[in-house]
Amino acid sequence: MKNKHIKHNMPSVTVSNAELLENASLKIDAITDNIIRIHTVPDTQNYNDVSFALDDSLEVTGVFNVSQYNSIITATTDSVILKIKKTFEIDIYNKDGYLLCSDCEPASQEMDEYTQAEIEQVKQEGHMPDTIADDIKYKVTKRIIGDEAFYGLGDKTGFLNKRGYEYIMWNSDNPEPHVENATFRALYKSIPFLIVHRQDCTYGIFLDNTYKSYFDLGVSDAGSYSFAVTGGEMNYYFIYGKNIKEVIKGYTSLTGRSPLPQLWTLGYHQSRWSYMSEKEVLDIANNFENYNVPCDAIHLDIDYMDKFKVFTSDKERFPDLKQLSSQLEEHGIKLVTIIDPGVKAEDGYNVYDEGIEDKHFAKAQDGTVYHNTVWPGDAVFPDFTSASTRLWWGNKTKYLTDNGISGIWNDMNEPSGFSGQFPDDVVFPGDGVSRFHKEIHNVYGHLMSQATYNGLKKNSLKRPFVITRACYSGSQKYATVWTGDNQSIWAHLKLAIPQLLNLGLSGMPLAGVDIGGFGSNTTPELLSRWIEACCFSPLFRNHSAKLTRRQEPWAFDEATLSIYRKYVKLHYKFIPYLYDLCYEESLTGLPILRPLVMEYENDKNVINCNDEYLVGSSILVAPVTDQGAITRSVYLPKGIWVDYNSGKRIKGGRYILYKAPLDICPIFIKGGSILPVYPDIPNLSPQNTQKLIVEFYPSDDTANFNNRANNSCYYMHYQDNGTDFKYQAGEYNLYKFSFSSNRPNGLKAELTKNGYKNKYTNISAVIK
Ligand code: NOJ
Repeated sequence: MKNKHIKHNMPSVTVSNAELLENASLKIDAITDNIIRIHTVPDTQNYNDVSFALDDSLEVTGVFNVSQYNSIITATTDSVILKIKKTFEIDIYNKDGYLLCSDCEPASQEMDEYTQAEIEQVKQEGHMPDTIADDIKYKVTKRIIGDEAFYGLGDKTGFLNKRGYEYIMWNSDNPEPHVENATFRALYKSIPFLIVHRQDCTYGIFLDNTYKSYFDLGVSDAGSYSFAVTGGEMNYYFIYGKNIKEVIKGYTSLTGRSPLPQLWTLGYHQSRWSYMSEKEVLDIANNFENYNVPCDAIHLDIDYMDKFKVFTSDKERFPDLKQLSSQLEEHGIKLVTIIDPGVKAEDGYNVYDEGIEDKHFAKAQDGTVYHNTVWPGDAVFPDFTSASTRLWWGNKTKYLTDNGISGIWNDMNEPSGFSGQFPDDVVFPGDGVSRFHKEIHNVYGHLMSQATYNGLKKNSLKRPFVITRACYSGSQKYATVWTGDNQSIWAHLKLAIPQLLNLGLSGMPLAGVDIGGFGSNTTPELLSRWIEACCFSPLFRNHSAKLTRRQEPWAFDEATLSIYRKYVKLHYKFIPYLYDLCYEESLTGLPILRPLVMEYENDKNVINCNDEYLVGSSILVAPVTDQGAITRSVYLPKGIWVDYNSGKRIKGGRYILYKAPLDICPIFIKGGSILPVYPDIPNLSPQNTQKLIVEFYPSDDTANFNNRANNSCYYMHYQDNGTDFKYQAGEYNLYKFSFSSNRPNGLKAELTKNGYKNKYTNISAVIK
């Protein structure tokens, strides 16, 4: 995709006030009737209004009706009314005149003042002072009108609801434990999209500015929240929706949606920094078979490379990658390899030589190539802002696809450097528009993912599987994400839930955490609870660091292995449902894992629910995330829930106390759900995915289910070849499943779209 320029053929509103905004004005555009863009425009001739996030398919369709009375401009679409003051304060109402969002003056901050000596004294004991945002260029402050909850912002630390916290958008590789304190306002990703939810209204704010930015959600002033940028233009979108789902649809209509992944990518992945030889990898594959634990992928971390040189392999440890890939294929297992952006600066190494020759690397201020240190030692870094560099890098993936590699895992792309952070003024010459690191930093991983996605697509002709650590809004179009270097601690198991949920709310549905924890040693109990808690995770990968205890499922004892096997198998069972949710997401942007507030937004009990989640709308998971706990309280929203473990029907709208010994994860199915599942399978190879079982969970007794309104209870199931892009030419099937006791097995399966010829060889039904 090209970086998106928005064409303004619709009327927009421009407000100038030289006293408040020197050499710039404020422009307000209706992108649609619900999505309003508010941005500063400098008076310079060569202003380059470009977004790295916006989707190519974005069409500007909104229309403003504009009037002015005294100094207030009123701009109205079919959905919202904006009252704009010359002071640039904007109030936004819905069509009924109900106030949704209102700018206000920043509260005067009465901060304690400390001398430098006092600060140094505190630092001596190892305490770090709070980061002070003294580099702000533009800031917008909005009133907190009532019971606002704040969601989104990617996978920042802390809780589901971000109210009362502040965050920084600056992609950061920080290996210390990620907890909700001052040091961790920034993590690897920058997704500056916020959902503001009150009981009476919901809207989104997407701050499309790639410089370092700040979000203060009621910290400096309990009565307001603000967002601020340190460079470029103030450029944000107000996204109105009648509920959270509509706001996510609006945001993903701007920034794009994750395309359908290959089916196998939803299976189990085993990783370790690093599997050191072909033999070790084959042993791992054999163990999955021997221990009867399903597996679809093994990841090779940096040690498969020759001296950490990207797009090479170590000929001693991995003499024949291609043969290894095909041996693994016999086990139904794919190989995924890591690729970092740092290119070893070594004459005679083709990637370095070509990059120097064709000017693909970022530059220092003096015009020489910029160097930093990463795994290969002295390294240089591609300028991914240049289309020709992206193309070159994408083409390099052929080395991997030719060797049978099925996916690429992009790491260290914040970009991270061992000699310290890249200076702000490192130059990315781009395609004629030269930019500094301070503008590019937050999109470096995004552009690397774009390059990798396009290269893999061209070289493999399959749906590219790219995992990235750093990203920006819109990266969902190219990559799956993982949350980086967590630790094997209970706090990080707990954190996984709000992180995955907020990623989903931020348009990033294909996500996962390192199961078992990356750094430090896991314990059998922690690993067991982790595989339970993440058993529906779209990226389902166990990964651990060098020097830590081995973390493969068989590395502990029989009991741990058996729990692990049980939940990996549970994951595989529900993959047809997960794949349906991927299909839904590709059309709507709605996440796979959902906070309860997304489906039950008027229920006050779920606003801050950090420790439960929904899979789609039918499955509720309430994992145990406390060491030693064997019971937990579970909140079930209104309705009937079927206890997956016992089959009992439970009335919701209340808390229950649930017994969950170590091998039990509390899982509940919404009464009335129909769910497609696989029988017990070892991996997602085509021969294993030809049989489908359709499960029906009536909300009342099985015997009486026909009393229910059967016709209104149906489920649409999607099927395609799970591999390439033929579905875009109509090669897919849609099945409509419904249940009625008049039929032999209760199931009625209608093919409402018949485009894919390899239909299921068998569809059976189970009434639960
Ligand atoms: C940092 C990544 O976050 C981690 O997953 C990886 O194992 C190491 N780099 C080594 O490549």
